[in-house]
Formats: sequence, C-alpha cells, structure tokens
Amino acid sequence: MNLTKHLAVTKTSQSRLTSVNFEELSFGEIFTDHMFVCDFKNGTWQTPEILPYQNISMAPSASALHYGQAVFEGMKAYKDATDQLWLFRPELNFQRINKSSKRLEMPEFPKEFFFQGLETLLELDSEWVKPGLGNSLYVRPFVFASEACVQASPSLEYKFMIICSPVKAYYSGSELNVLIEKKYSRAASGGVGYAKAAGNYAAQFYPTAQAMKKGYQQIIWTDSSTHSYLEEAGTMNIFFRIEDKLITAPIGDTILDGITRKSVIEWARHQGITVEERPVAITEIIEAAKSGTLKEIFGSGTAVVISPIDGFAFEGTDYRLPQTEDSFASQAKNAITSIQYNLVEDPFGWRHKVG
Ligand SMILES: Cc1ncc(COP(=O)(O)O)c(C=O)c1O
Repeated sequence: MNLTKHLAVTKTSQSRLTSVNFEELSFGEIFTDHMFVCDFKNGTWQTPEILPYQNISMAPSASALHYGQAVFEGMKAYKDATDQLWLFRPELNFQRINKSSKRLEMPEFPKEFFFQGLETLLELDSEWVKPGLGNSLYVRPFVFASEACVQASPSLEYKFMIICSPVKAYYSGSELNVLIEKKYSRAASGGVGYAKAAGNYAAQFYPTAQAMKKGYQQIIWTDSSTHSYLEEAGTMNIFFRIEDKLITAPIGDTILDGITRKSVIEWARHQGITVEERPVAITEIIEAAKSGTLKEIFGSGTAVVISPIDGFAFEGTDYRLPQTEDSFASQAKNAITSIQYNLVEDPFGWRHKVG
C-alpha cells in the first residue's frame, strides 16, 4: 500500500521562527510551526495531516484525561555542517511507541504514516533545527485516547500526534547527586514500567520532589519487591563501572528499553569493554564504592545522552564517585554525539538521513 500521497499538508501562513531567541531556549516550551496529526476512528487510522501548530479541542470527557490511556516517545533531529538533517535510530522509537500502545490496549500506528509524517514535518520545519554540537530538535510523538466517554474501558478513538521543540546544548554545570529509593517504586513486575505510558511519569513526580527537598537531584529506582536491586535513574537508564567493566540492569518489564542504553552497550562492546546486563545489587555497589573499585555511575537517555553521577546516597550515607580521567561516560557521549551530528563514520548504521 502506498500511503505517501495520503498525507495532507497545510502550511502555516506566518512562521514564528524569527520571534524565537535560540540562545535562550528553555526545554520543551517553544514548538515549531507545524504538527502532525492522525485520528483513529471507526476501527482505522484516518488520513494523516500536517497542520500549523495550534491548540486542539477535546471533550472534557475525553478518555485520556480520566484513565491516562496515553503513551509518548522522545527522539531528536540533528543538523550537520552542510545543513543535512539526521535522526538517530528512529526505527527503535517507532517500535517502542507501538510496544507501549499495545500494553495500554491502544491501536498500533502504521510505519508508513509514522515515517512519512515525521520526515515531512522535519523537512517543513528544518529551519528550526540549528547546526552545532548540542543544538537539536526534540521530537515528541504521542498517542492518546480521545473518545468522549468516561466508561473505564479502552477508547474507540485516538489521536496520534508529533510536535517538535528546538533545544540547546545542555550544560548542567551543577552536581548530580542521586538518592537510592527504598520506599517508592517506579515500576512493578507485570506492570507498565517498560512502556512510555504518560502515568509512569506523573507517578515519579512526588517521590522525586521529596528527594529534591533532601538535596538530591534525582532518584535511583530499585526493584519494587525487595528494593535491593538498582533499576533506573530518574528517567534514564543507569550504568555502573566497576574497575573496567560496565554493568547495567537487564531489560525486563520494569525497565524502559532505552535507545541510548542500547547504543552505549553496542559502542562499549565494539571498544572491547566488557558489559554485563544483569541485576545490580545495592550491596555490590556499596562494597565497590567502599573498596574503591566503583569508578563511575552514569545515566543514559535521549535528552542529555550521558549524565555522569557525582554521588549517591543510601540509608543516610553519602558516597562520592571519584574523578575518573577519560571516563567511559565522556567517551560514550563523545562517540554517540559524533555519530548523531555526522562528524564521524557510523560503523553501527545508527544515523538516519532525513529527506
Ligand atoms: C524511564 C526512562 N528510562 C530510560 C529512558 C532513556 O531512554 P532513551 O535512551 O530511549 O531516551 C527514558 C527516556 O526516554 C525514560 O523515560
């Protein structure tokens, strides 16, 4: 089926581009001129459209507002020195949004619609992507239940949308200290932790706010049944370097299958670094911290690629990570961003040309 010709495009009559100060962007507040929309009705996805970015109207009874039947993705587009646009492993975002939708009993989105919509949108709004390391366009695909009905059952209608927000290089500068969480859980076995379900994020706000009041910037989530194994850091996957080995929790139903995580693992193995994907016990990390074999902890995710952790706290004791020369965190970040911005060859085939 050739779906290409079925994408209806309405361009904006007045671009907002010149009104944006690209030097002072705050994450996720400014959106580009266009958006992608596709409705699911009568058991099928309707003609997808690109429209000028605008508010949408919904019934107050729209199911997503009541039962949280909503999922999303987060990806980025990059521009190289020749103004060519690139995506990073978008196939994996496409697969993951459908995996998330399936878990929430939502219809899967057709691949042709996804890529046709995404690439057309990016080409239309390409001026919003600034070249230069760190500058990018954050791309947010999402799906939500739009049927006007408060019955607690799967909606019969959905909206799939893509909106895009320009983002600047992220220089945190400040320390990242994390708290190992023993009370609250992000995900439980058999639950929705592996899906990018909207409600997963709402449920993190309260425990994270509590940790922040204690002076920590993020939480390290532990397994919900024993609180003895380390799973994720905030909204990132987490890696531990003991001596010269990287360890990260295995993907299962409580952990998001991060695309950056996958890329770090593939890059590290390609470098000859041993990577173990296995449960990581808190006791193992504490012992390694005490004996000096714990060299690094870092988070991985689309927003910042790699986020080195300076210290962590467990049961009232603070542990500091050493300053490691030529850290795995900085090597991995450098390798991945160089591929994203088309600065080096891509031996892994991760870069996806737009257009
Ligand atoms: C819970 C959670 N873990 C991990 C990640 C990192 O995933 P990715 O590398 O695909 O951005 C994210 C961000 O999307 C997340 O929300």
